[in-house]
Amino acid sequence: MSRRIRIAPSLLSADIAQLAEQVEQCTEGGADLLHLDIMDGRFVPNITFGPAFVATVRRLTPLPLDCHLMIVEPERYIQSFVEAGAQWVSVHVETCMHLHRTLEQIRLLGAQAGAVLNPLTPLEFAFEAASAADYILLMSVNPGFGGQRFIPQTLHRIERLRKWLDTQGLSIPIEVDGGIGIDNVSDVVRAGAEIIVSGAAVFDDGAIAKNIARLRTAIG
Ligand code: DX5
Ligand code: ZN
Repeated sequence: MSRRIRIAPSLLSADIAQLAEQVEQCTEGGADLLHLDIMDGRFVPNITFGPAFVATVRRLTPLPLDCHLMIVEPERYIQSFVEAGAQWVSVHVETCMHLHRTLEQIRLLGAQAGAVLNPLTPLEFAFEAASAADYILLMSVNPGFGGQRFIPQTLHRIERLRKWLDTQGLSIPIEVDGGIGIDNVSDVVRAGAEIIVSGAAVFDDGAIAKNIARLRTAIG
């Protein structure tokens, strides 16, 4: 496989009491970026990290930080997250009244701009967003929590999106988020994903570097 598959551990499942050590294991274990789930208790029924947390992680690793904003009115907070050290920022199409403007705002701040789709959001949103985004993130669970089951129809969505991007000559990567572990990661990659987010499967038993290595082996 010529595509470079990137692994993005999701810190949502990390043991925050041992944050420095867990981030170091990700870095030493060959993670390509760190995924930070930003939740506001409004767009999703959970609350997580703010810019101060992102700034803390920034001091712990040279890896790019991938901030997945699950918040309403994301345009109000993008600058704070970029200033805190996020190099990748993604926004849900369901939260953006002016998606093109918001993606442009991310790019103007010098970060990679991602557009995220919930599991049943029509793929046409991704087709339209692709010309203004640096990556597309397809949710394979309903956003809000780690450790959920992968929604199988996502595989077909990844295939359709990859095919469409290829026919348009667009090489932007597809990131997939939710319920991915060693049992299904190869299916997700075969369908066309290039960036794999994984939370529970990386952190749950604390053997982070080993789990990243096992994911790589499963990808083949
Ligand atoms: C869910 C988050 C995911 C989550 C993935 O709302 O966006 O990033 O942390 O975790 P797992 O791999 O456990 O499903
Ligand atoms: Zn996420």
